[in-house]
Amino acid sequence: MSEEMILVTGATGKTGRRVVRRLRERGVAVRAASRSGTPSFGWTDRDTWAPALEGATGLYLVAPDLGSPEAAQTVAAFARQAAAAGARRAVLLSVPDGGRGHEHVLAAERALEHAGLDWTVLRPRWFFQNFSEDFLLDPVLGGEVRLPAGDGKEAFIDAEDIAEVAVAALTEDGHAGWHYELSGPRLMTFGDAVAEIARATGRDIRYVPLTSEEYAREQRAQGVPEEWVQLSVGLYEYVRSGGLASLSDGVQRSLGRPPRDFSDYAEAAARQGVWNV
Ligand SMILES: NC(=O)c1ccc[n+]([C@@H]2O[C@H](COP(=O)([O-])OP(=O)(O)OC[C@H]3O[C@@H](n4cnc5c(N)ncnc54)[C@H](OP(=O)(O)O)[C@@H]3O)[C@@H](O)[C@H]2O)c1
Repeated sequence: MSEEMILVTGATGKTGRRVVRRLRERGVAVRAASRSGTPSFGWTDRDTWAPALEGATGLYLVAPDLGSPEAAQTVAAFARQAAAAGARRAVLLSVPDGGRGHEHVLAAERALEHAGLDWTVLRPRWFFQNFSEDFLLDPVLGGEVRLPAGDGKEAFIDAEDIAEVAVAALTEDGHAGWHYELSGPRLMTFGDAVAEIARATGRDIRYVPLTSEEYAREQRAQGVPEEWVQLSVGLYEYVRSGGLASLSDGVQRSLGRPPRDFSDYAEAAARQGVWNV
């Protein structure tokens, strides 16, 4: 039997780099792929696909904007090419129900499911790491997180848990054919999350709830393209309306243990100094 080799796309991102680290810790060969990698891998540059897929037995797929009409076609073409090149397993990082263009997301999931691979789909909630590694880091550092999420509750999840589920699905039997709905262990408002970070850092950091109009105005003033303004306004409206105010059991089901809590993440990130100013 041939050696396992996992192609990890989005390998420099929040989940991908954790998947890479965890696979390497298990001694599994990895090809870490992204546009800035060597060789470069781009979803829109099909010439880069064959070199990325050569010898790959498993795939971690962080596909570009799954809510776009083109996503299903891209995922279908890539997954079929991968199966023809000898890949057997694929894990797709998807999104929970309810956002903009969700019919396109479901079409992309179905495209993977029909590509001739053993597939697993991950549908995680908002990542804890948005506050420390992504678009909410600067607001936290600035002491004010201004969002139109009201008191809507969400079951934020640790990207470490998502990566651990992905690695289990890529390296162990028993995960093929699952859609894992991945939430953290408790429902929190954005205000709750920011308060926990403030407590962990000992800093004065506030959550300021905005209306959608106020938020859109601030985003436009910062030069954010209108498409992204509308997308994020829609996401926060969904949170505010309670659309994500539910827990799911995907971490327990896939890993046999509960998901990690936001407090543990906030304390660890604070200790590492990511929110030091
Ligand atoms: N953040 C959340 O709370 C959340 C919640 C649920 C689901 N999601 C989903 O998670 C996905 C993002 O995953 P992530 O947070 O792990 O990644 P991320 O931190 O957003 O990083 C994106 C990764 O994809 C690569 N990339 C971007 N565009 C690419 C392209 N055209 N071709 C090839 N590679 C490309 C980037 O590297 P290069 O720039 O080097 O190419 C990077 O490695 C999105 O689909 C999002 O919908 C996010």
